[in-house]
Amino acid sequence: MNYTDGHTRICGLIGNPVKHTLSPLIHNSLSDMFGINMVYVPFEVNENDVKAAVKGALALDIKGLNVTVPYKSEVIPYLDDIDPLAKSIGAVNTLVRTANGGFKGYNTDVTGLYHAMQDEGIDLEGEVVVILGAGGVARPTAFLCADKGAKKVYILNRTFEKAECVADEVNTALGTDVVIPMKLEDYKRVLMAHDKFIALQCTSVGLFPDVNSAVIEDKEFYEHISCALDEVYRPLETKFMKLAKEAGARTFSGLKMLLYQGIDAYELWHADDGIKVTKEQADVVYRS
Ligand code: ATR
Repeated sequence: MNYTDGHTRICGLIGNPVKHTLSPLIHNSLSDMFGINMVYVPFEVNENDVKAAVKGALALDIKGLNVTVPYKSEVIPYLDDIDPLAKSIGAVNTLVRTANGGFKGYNTDVTGLYHAMQDEGIDLEGEVVVILGAGGVARPTAFLCADKGAKKVYILNRTFEKAECVADEVNTALGTDVVIPMKLEDYKRVLMAHDKFIALQCTSVGLFPDVNSAVIEDKEFYEHISCALDEVYRPLETKFMKLAKEAGARTFSGLKMLLYQGIDAYELWHADDGIKVTKEQADVVYRS
């Protein structure tokens, strides 16, 4: 759709910064595909204006919002309702209008990652997972892996205390002990214990312009990887992915995860229209 009229639904993104977001491309492609009259607008919101932004969006009848850094937790007090998964994670990235005229918060970063894995035939049940990093992306990723039945989830981080903190949080929330914190430099202990594992790269290492770096460079580490996902999508193929591919692993870019968090948000916003995006349709949007 390249025009608006009185029926146009407005959805958008709040965060700061938002200028480089790829989300409009995803949502515009989906709207074209399904013939939905919608526009998606990024809104750069200042730090003291989050509450006003949510109230303003309600007043303007904005149907749905994505929330990005740094407001994924800060926005929660201004919601009417929150999905239990998002509540356990303590972060939302998608707001959907409720029947009461408020917003309900969801976390499609996590459901989208899961959806992407399912579409790619990756089953977490009984698997060993190694998460590199313990920041804002690693935490919900660890939660997802433990929640979906991974046998062990190692969190390897340069700063051990942060890995410990994430492991404690996830283990406590889920009443489990499968999440194990470890210092990044101790990764050989994982190699000794496990022949193969899924590796999820959740640090900022390898992000443009630092394209020739990977958080672990040792080839032996990559020989143990069955499947490698990188949260970084600039460049599309990171050094981490190149090393994993050379060692024979299947690799996935962060762009797939970004796409699926957008798809899950889109499906939530248009649930009344029964929109369900198939893997084939997701592939079309990915290629565009
Ligand atoms: P994000 O929200 O993208 O996860 P973040 O919360 O700032 O970003 O986390 C960045 C992650 O990358 C952290 O785990 C960080 O490790 P520390 O906790 O030790 O800071 C990791 N990271 C960043 N630069 C790194 C580097 N050069 N070597 C190893 N880890 C690095």
